[in-house]
Amino acid sequence: MSAIPESSSAPSDLEKKNEDNKQKQSNLQRIQLRKQSVRAWPAEKKIEKLGIYSSCKADENCKCNGWKNPNPPPNPPKPDAPSQVSSLNDPCRGCEHKLKDHVSHLETVGDEELDRLLGIVVDVENLFMCVHKEEDSDTKQVYFYLFKLLRKCILQLSKPEVEGPLGKPPYEKPSIAKGVTNFVLHKFTHLSPKEWQMMYDLAKMFLHCLNHWKLETPSTRKQYMSQEELAAYKVNYTRWLCFCHVPAFCDSLPHFDTTLIFGRTFLKSVFQTMRKQLLDKFKAEKDKMPPEKRTLVLTHFPRFLTLLEEEIYSPNSPIWDPNFTGKTPAHVLAAVQAQAATDPSGVVSTPTAGKKRPADDDTGGQPDMKRRRSEDENLDEAVAEIVAELENSKQNSQSMFPEHAPRDEAAKIEEKKGLLEFHCIANSLTEKVSRQTMLWLIALQNVFSHQLPRMPKEYITRLVFDPKHKNLALVKNGKPIGGICFRMFPSQGFSEIVFCAVTSNEQVKGYGTHLMNHLKDFHIKNGIHHFLTFADEFAVGYFKKQGFSKDLKLPKSVYGGYIKEYEGATLMGCELNNKIVYVEFTAVVRKQKEILKKLVERRQAEIRKVHPGLTCFKDGITEVPVESIPGILETGFAPPAAKATRSSEERMDQETLYNTLKTILHSCKTYQYSWPFMHPVDRKAVPDYYDHIKFPMDFKTMTERLKANYYVNKRLFIADLKRMISNCKAYNSPETEYYNCASNLEKYFNTKLRDHNLL
Ligand code: ACO
Repeated sequence: MSAIPESSSAPSDLEKKNEDNKQKQSNLQRIQLRKQSVRAWPAEKKIEKLGIYSSCKADENCKCNGWKNPNPPPNPPKPDAPSQVSSLNDPCRGCEHKLKDHVSHLETVGDEELDRLLGIVVDVENLFMCVHKEEDSDTKQVYFYLFKLLRKCILQLSKPEVEGPLGKPPYEKPSIAKGVTNFVLHKFTHLSPKEWQMMYDLAKMFLHCLNHWKLETPSTRKQYMSQEELAAYKVNYTRWLCFCHVPAFCDSLPHFDTTLIFGRTFLKSVFQTMRKQLLDKFKAEKDKMPPEKRTLVLTHFPRFLTLLEEEIYSPNSPIWDPNFTGKTPAHVLAAVQAQAATDPSGVVSTPTAGKKRPADDDTGGQPDMKRRRSEDENLDEAVAEIVAELENSKQNSQSMFPEHAPRDEAAKIEEKKGLLEFHCIANSLTEKVSRQTMLWLIALQNVFSHQLPRMPKEYITRLVFDPKHKNLALVKNGKPIGGICFRMFPSQGFSEIVFCAVTSNEQVKGYGTHLMNHLKDFHIKNGIHHFLTFADEFAVGYFKKQGFSKDLKLPKSVYGGYIKEYEGATLMGCELNNKIVYVEFTAVVRKQKEILKKLVERRQAEIRKVHPGLTCFKDGITEVPVESIPGILETGFAPPAAKATRSSEERMDQETLYNTLKTILHSCKTYQYSWPFMHPVDRKAVPDYYDHIKFPMDFKTMTERLKANYYVNKRLFIADLKRMISNCKAYNSPETEYYNCASNLEKYFNTKLRDHNLL
């Protein structure tokens, strides 16, 4: 569990790191195998295991927080000794109460939930080992925090959620993944398709390495970091442990990729060390690599990293601009179109025998798939950002309860805090029924009698205490305040809801909804997918809101003779969907709606961006490609397939033109008389400029147009240059310095155009 050593140039360090990796892999496999085997245990053994992590409920004063076996196995355990499963009546070595007093809350818990809890138990036991083995105090502290968090989740049957000052991911925008993708679009769009693809693959490799990178502990960085830097590093290190590193081997914790939740600050703090270690590692492994991989990682990758380094540390790098709008290279778009043209269904075909292998293809493999993948990654990232935004706004508005929160939200929060409990209880003629169960059945019988005054009390009593009927009790502060009495007919595939009520002063608080959702989840776990009920005329509205309908999905032959008929009530049914976790349903749907709404808003904001109009028509140009109009591609417009399938010769011409224009533009920008033309004229400094000049032009705009592949022919480029000069000469009088600059620049670029055979 210790971090990677700071310097790993010595072969022994590298060997150790490889060993560490192998060890990590085998540890992950071991954990997964352990989880599989635990899930295959018989039910009693599972319950016993969970009992060890469950507090005693025998009486209020008992503080025992886990059942301890009175006959502990020998330490160390004998490998071949048969393990004896304890009985529910076995007393706890600590508090002397029985095992069943520790596990009574698991009675209504289905198999799936038990398995989830056992998964957490395996993670808790691993974390326990980590805490003990870890020598670094910062890391140890975090392991211990996560250990306690998971223990609490087992006790409370809740989902692990890291809370507190660390905040929720993502922590910086744009993310490292976005920044590195921008870097490829910013730096390499002019390259040939094959070279571009290589850079794209190197970027992916870099991100992959970072996602699996083991950070140095803050203490190893003490010597060469200021107090302030160290404090910031420590925060990110802790976040990385909680959200990336530990969840990679404790899968009950939510896992995030490092490159999706951290941004430039994090990358700056790890880049130098990571580069050194990576390159050392590749050098050490070079003899085992195939030749093409060797060239890639020993020649191209170091250059790639040097260029990336410039962008990471340069204060003006555009790749970290949240509004960066790099263009996907023309050849990638063209290949997408070609694919769409040959496959109108839009389904991406995989390479088949006889076709070129991706690496041989001069379009660089399957760019459409790669593009889609990168779009998916962008979408994932956008969704992660939105989820974090929503979480934050939820946290901020928790005190004022949201007006439009789902009906059952308050009940769920109370349940999470342990104020509400749900217990499935029943009378029994064959087994001893606990005193508490009896008291709760009596309390439920009272609630039903009060809330259903037209129902004879004796009848209610008979059914509530009938062993064939079960009762889902809603217990608040130790007392049942509502419940549902039901009878399951597994052979017929349905359950009859006989009574359903919430005590009057607790109604319309969402308890009825949450109760019904628990009942639905309980039935799905038990393989029953239909409810039937005779609803009182006043309760039809409530049942409708719980998904019941008068249109029954079950034929009468299935329920006739089984269900009790009531006069003056309406028979209603509800079909359950086993893919839904009903207690989460409203919250999940609501969240999905909010995410979708935000995604649409973001897309609309992009599309509604107003671009400056085209000026080229004023200069005699009669036609421009539609896709070159700024903003068109962002709306989802796809250029016609015929254009996209240009011959490779035409594509080459396009690339040559791009490179030539880039060279000319670069020399013009560095020319001594170009300084007045570098940026658009400042509206504040020259207030009347735009009254006179309707089609302004400058080198910044031209650079952006070049990057956006607007200059699909030389005429568009020359027109912009000329426009820049004529604007300047129109606004300024001949004796000014500006006019002089314009004349000199005009001569200069004409020479350059001639030199490149463009005039
Ligand atoms: N008629 C119409 N709508 C109702 C009724 C009703 N009688 N009761 C609740 N609702 C609505 C609520 O307004 C709420 O709607 P909303 O989400 O749009 O705001 C929704 O149903 C759920 O409300 P909850 O707060 O979750 O439900 P509650 O905790 O109030 O429990 C229950 C509902 C059990 C019906 C309760 O009101 C009650 O005990 N009523 C008296 C007893 C009764 O009539 N039981 C049903 C008899 S039929 C039978 O038992 C098979």
